[in-house]
Amino acid sequence: MDLIVITGGRPLQGSVTISGSKNGTLPLLAAAMLAEGESVIENVPDIEDVRTMLQMLDALGVRTRFIGPGVLAIDAANLRSTEAPYQLVRKMRGSFYVAGALLARTGHAEVPLPGGCVIGSRPVDFHIQGFKALGAEVSEEAGVMKARARRLRGTRIYLDPRLRSVGATINIMLAATLADGTTIIESASREPEIVSCAEFLRECGAQITGVGSSTLVIRGVDKLRGCRYRSIPDRMEAGTFMYAAAVTKGSLLLESVRPDHLTPVVDALRSAGVTVGYGDDWLKVETRERPEAVDVMTAPYPGYPTDLQPNHGVMAALARGTSIVEETIFDARFNYTDELARMGANIKVVGRAAIIKGVPELSGAPVEATDIRAGAALVLAGLAARGSTEISGTEFIDRGYERFVDKLRPLGAQISRSAVESRGAACWV
Ligand code: EPU
Repeated sequence: MDLIVITGGRPLQGSVTISGSKNGTLPLLAAAMLAEGESVIENVPDIEDVRTMLQMLDALGVRTRFIGPGVLAIDAANLRSTEAPYQLVRKMRGSFYVAGALLARTGHAEVPLPGGCVIGSRPVDFHIQGFKALGAEVSEEAGVMKARARRLRGTRIYLDPRLRSVGATINIMLAATLADGTTIIESASREPEIVSCAEFLRECGAQITGVGSSTLVIRGVDKLRGCRYRSIPDRMEAGTFMYAAAVTKGSLLLESVRPDHLTPVVDALRSAGVTVGYGDDWLKVETRERPEAVDVMTAPYPGYPTDLQPNHGVMAALARGTSIVEETIFDARFNYTDELARMGANIKVVGRAAIIKGVPELSGAPVEATDIRAGAALVLAGLAARGSTEISGTEFIDRGYERFVDKLRPLGAQISRSAVESRGAACWV
């Protein structure tokens, strides 16, 4: 077992380069399977979820190799399997993207249903409805989705506008790219990760319009060629460092970012009294004061992102006044609040809202990360807290944050990783 150990209370100072996006890169890795030649993706983050997806591609017979730091070549010429292994799908929901790509490329996909996860129930019914609308025969047997179609046919697909789905929009777009005729996806999600996937597909020869709007129009083509594409910066990693500056009363310059992807986060921090400046590809966040309470409600893009809600919760826990944080996307995304309470936070969760009464300081404690974003939030809490915090569940943080501890240390964080042997004896690494 690994622990992250932090002695908190130091303002973070300096500059940090933001990595390629996890949720942007995973769809690209599946999308590259649609092309008949080699694709090259730059700015691929070195994180556990990417490693899992590469294992998935390997299991399907797709050749991948790094040809430079963060530069990945993908060649699906020898795709030999259309059955995704359960042990990989269960690790990571993003791997379900191979369903749309396999179905479009080969007319067949057998992909285990990913099931729920700790942040809430996460069905894939919208994905399956989309595949069916495109003419696939889909059945579920022993927890596996089996989809088959001689050739998918373009059609009009209405996604539920009350519950927009990033994953379903991407999976249906992947499937529709090689279909016969035109597919129109209504109530499509508009996240930057969807825009980047559409841009990649267009570079490969796909015909997609309406990109970035809630109506995507995909005119099916016979085949795609490989292309070269740079993965977008990770807006969740960027947001995490922005909140890290705010909660430690520090000053951070973030480089290689897209501030236009972070508008609601910039607004939330400015409303809390934090100074935020930005240019085309940088953001500067600084404050010396205790933040003011700010209410947020999560919403699909361009609304406030659910993945940063736990970070906002940490800021609210330390703010002057009471904040209401509402979660509208996932039904169990307040797990981290119990851990924050153990550090002295005053939080009451009522249904889908957390009422957070700010306290002047948190104190270090042993805490456990239960998902990627809860893990990042606990690191922020540990950085801000008085005393020592030990975070277990670090494997979640490794899924989504590239070298998180190594990036924080040069900014003045007193943070290290330790491997703890099963009997509890600590050995420092
Ligand atoms: N939903 C359904 N049926 C479906 C699909 C979704 O009911 O078929 C519901 C979900 O249960 C949820 C809502 O629709 O309540 C939105 O889910 P969505 O499909 O948009 O989420 P996702 O595609 O499974 C991605 C990210 C998540 C991020 C959400 C929301 C990836 C790999 N994952 O998940 O990222 O929170 O969009 O923005 O892109 C993370 O990175 O830590 C993470 C959880």
